Amino acid sequence: MTELAERVIGCCRRLATYSEEAGRTTRTFLSPPMRDVHGTLREWMERIGMRVRVDAAGNLRGLYGADDARRLIIGSHLDTVPDAGAFDGVLGVVMGVALVEALGSGRPGLSIEVIGFSEEEGVRFGVPFIGSRAVAGTLDGELPGRGVADAIRAYGLDPAQLPAARLSPRAVAYFEIHIEQGPVLESLDLPLGIVDAIVGQSRWTVTFTGRANHAGTTPMHLRRDALAAAAEWISFVESYARRADGLVATVGSVKVNPGAGNVVPGVAELSLDVRHASDEVRKVAVRAFETRARMIASERRMACGCEERLDQRAVPMDETLRAKLEAAVREAGCPVHHMTSGAGHDAMILAALVPAAMLFVRSPGGVSHHPDETVLRDDVARALECSLRFIRNV
Ligand code: GLV
Ligand code: MN
Ligand code: MN
Repeated sequence: MTELAERVIGCCRRLATYSEEAGRTTRTFLSPPMRDVHGTLREWMERIGMRVRVDAAGNLRGLYGADDARRLIIGSHLDTVPDAGAFDGVLGVVMGVALVEALGSGRPGLSIEVIGFSEEEGVRFGVPFIGSRAVAGTLDGELPGRGVADAIRAYGLDPAQLPAARLSPRAVAYFEIHIEQGPVLESLDLPLGIVDAIVGQSRWTVTFTGRANHAGTTPMHLRRDALAAAAEWISFVESYARRADGLVATVGSVKVNPGAGNVVPGVAELSLDVRHASDEVRKVAVRAFETRARMIASERRMACGCEERLDQRAVPMDETLRAKLEAAVREAGCPVHHMTSGAGHDAMILAALVPAAMLFVRSPGGVSHHPDETVLRDDVARALECSLRFIRNV
């Protein structure tokens, strides 16, 4: 497995060079470098006998085996955050192809479809899971954001064909391998983790609209400074989340208009990302954040818009598949460790359609969404070994 693991890592690092920005990895939904990613993976897939297509949502799909056989789906995403590492998402897709290669003539009666989802991060349009939601059939007719259909057309695809992107009725299970993106496995000196559940997440866009004015002539008490309102709200979000056990809340993006040093900010548009294992705790927090945003705006005599972009419930992984994965990990001689995922994954969306399982690979340094993101060759080799056993037993 060592040689295959090395090729997997080499391929991920090569794909990381396909970027919208020179010198760093940024590859959002259907951006031009996605074509190079598709080209490289298609070449490998076709070489090992897979039939490859790109569906109308821009998902790369390679099928090995008969069309009409029961089908195992192996997938993860090919888009990235800005200034990303080489492994978030990509590792799971590349390992899917590597597993098909390693299985050789496959498994009688079972086809394998590897899917490289076009969009999971939610960077380009503020809405995540566009790729997997197209496969789940929950995207038709309500493309999030005006630009999505345009982006699909600009890539040479036809939004009217989205229904054909849906998961085959022959699919019997979904399996995703992903880097842990956190420090837990490393702290326990473990190579792999079995995901029991994925926490729920909310994403919102919050906009404070005050009035832009001259920074030199407008006295402090006559200002309606949208960024000052936003700052007050961000502090509230942070202190609330610090006090609530297990809650994480992030304002990761602030756009200020007009955005000049000598102009009082007129508009501040913020992202909000809230996650917790309990959907109830998450929803209570989101309500508190919305209430406080409106209160701050009213105290400062400005308008406040709160728009929900995502309300994704927490999702357990399938119990039977978890047990099979545990058996595979044990048989491969690896210690078994179960954990909850704080990051979102395409498995959350696919789990609504078919039984789903996830395997985490240790993230050295616990770093992710960062160029320092990495994996260890021996961990990847072990993940391949466990996954092969798992697939043979699905
Ligand atoms: C995806 O990486 C997410 O959890 O935001
Ligand atoms: Mn990911
Ligand atoms: Mn990510």
